[in-house]
Amino acid sequence: MVERVKVAVVGVGNNVSALVQGIALYRASGSVTGIRRPVLEGLGVGDVDFVAAFATSPEKIGRDLSEVIFLPPNNYPRITGELPLSGVTVRRGITDTADATEVDRVAGELAGAEVVLYAAPSGRPETAHAYAEAALRAGAAFINTTADPVARDPQLLDRYARAGLPLLGDDLTSQFGTSAVHHALLRLLEERGLSLTSSYQVNLGGTEDFRNLVENGDTKMRSKLNALASESEAPGRVQVAPLGYLPHLKSHKVAHINIEAQAWGETTVSLDVKLTVHDPSGAAGVNIDLVRMAANALRQRRGGYLDEAAPLLKSPPGTAV
Ligand SMILES: NC(=O)c1ccc[n+]([C@@H]2O[C@H](COP(=O)([O-])OP(=O)(O)OC[C@H]3O[C@@H](n4cnc5c(N)ncnc54)[C@H](O)[C@@H]3O)[C@@H](O)[C@H]2O)c1
Repeated sequence: MVERVKVAVVGVGNNVSALVQGIALYRASGSVTGIRRPVLEGLGVGDVDFVAAFATSPEKIGRDLSEVIFLPPNNYPRITGELPLSGVTVRRGITDTADATEVDRVAGELAGAEVVLYAAPSGRPETAHAYAEAALRAGAAFINTTADPVARDPQLLDRYARAGLPLLGDDLTSQFGTSAVHHALLRLLEERGLSLTSSYQVNLGGTEDFRNLVENGDTKMRSKLNALASESEAPGRVQVAPLGYLPHLKSHKVAHINIEAQAWGETTVSLDVKLTVHDPSGAAGVNIDLVRMAANALRQRRGGYLDEAAPLLKSPPGTAV
């Protein structure tokens, strides 16, 4: 019998809602629709238990995880029937002003968790570091899904490696999002021998994540460009427009990708793609794999960064900060 992965989540936002609900849906239905790896290292998508959760909003703290995922401003839809109470009470998290005592408190509350999934807002590197420090003290693997540099911090990565604890990040590449589609199209262009003239992507969304990134988008912009970077993609020719927040889109993300190129005889080629997805689903479809990879490596005492996670991340160690 497989031992289920014990996961703690930091930030009970849309991405955690999509993950918690999706796991419940797949457990109940036995369906494998929309799952990239139904089984990874012997672990099914249902072999994940939530053991702790942290938030900062007073209306979330002290309530059950299964209720909190539906509280506004979360706007990911209900994809399952009624969820039973999880038995996990959401606890007070660490804020920007956290001192060592607070980090110790959270480390204590992480006891028993194998993997910490960090899904708080991007653009707060000190907070991300404080949680990574707490996870390290608690002996847990850490996954940084935000665009803030955590796995790209060589000293922190080295401490995780020496402790035999996996540290995965930074920033996930959605299961089927703008970065994955844009990257694939640019690669196709190159494979077919066309010359790139210019390319851009525009992303619009109505989630709290989009609202935050419109104001604190610097690390995200860098990370999105990291996801597209390759030697063939001449710097400056591929651009990412500033994100747009349109509340009525709710959890939908609408992306436009344009590519201008030259083909045989120096004639022009123009390609426009519109992609509409539920943004938090794209994150959950990848987080489920990162969690299982981290748990598997932790159980084998393989610490630090894991090469197998690279295709799932926008800004792995060594990429620009
Ligand atoms: N496809 C995607 O959705 C995608 C892709 C790549 C990266 N990400 C990143 O994943 C992260 C989570 O995305 P989301 O859509 O769930 O965001 P969200 O804004 O819906 O959720 C974040 C939650 O964290 C809470 N929070 C704020 N400060 C906190 C703290 N100090 N401690 C604990 N909780 C705190 C917020 O109140 C909120 O509930 C974001 O950083 C986002 O940029 C998302």
